[in-house]
Amino acid sequence: MEKSSGKRNTAILISGRGSNLKSLIKYSKKKKSLIKIVLVVSNNFNAKGLNYANKYKINNIFIKYSNRKIFENRLLKLLKKNNVDLICLAGFMKILSGSFIKKFYRPILNIHPSLLPKYKGLNTHNRAIQNKDKYSGATVHIVNEKLDSGKIILQEKVKILKSDSVRNLEKKVLKIEHKIYPKAIIRFLTSY
Ligand code: GAR
Repeated sequence: MEKSSGKRNTAILISGRGSNLKSLIKYSKKKKSLIKIVLVVSNNFNAKGLNYANKYKINNIFIKYSNRKIFENRLLKLLKKNNVDLICLAGFMKILSGSFIKKFYRPILNIHPSLLPKYKGLNTHNRAIQNKDKYSGATVHIVNEKLDSGKIILQEKVKILKSDSVRNLEKKVLKIEHKIYPKAIIRFLTSY
């Protein structure tokens, strides 16, 4: 890892809104932050999150996801060019292959809107409400070749009220996400 500046060169991968990207940019701007965001990549040309990257003048790029192999090869080249030593997935809705993870050979973190190992994959809020769970929450974990299954770094829960709609619950969980992603990065990087 690049340690000369004391900050890890970090790439954030997004697919859409980018509210977690925004919270990570905010964290990265702190004097004591452990990351420097050197690259934002989106597989979606219209991702709103790209606007944040532009606003804060962070190098950003759209990579077309025509197929996984082509996407990952282009991504690997860019990561190398930018000396990236940490990837944070922030609402990135594609699955990275085991081969990519091996080739990158550096840590990849992800944030997921459920209390893993519950509700891997999509529609987490709906599933939690349908199952009448008392709690939901968010999890930051290390990415491995199995979907949403890597080692958990940090998790925080929130109460599901009977009156909560999917939208409501999503909002509550997002608030937690914005709080725990920077915390999880600190925890991970100081024990890595
Ligand atoms: C977040 O809730 C994130 O946890 C989730 O997508 C949302 C992105 O929001 N990620 C996944 O479901 C990954 N499987 P954002 O674009 O505003 O950060």
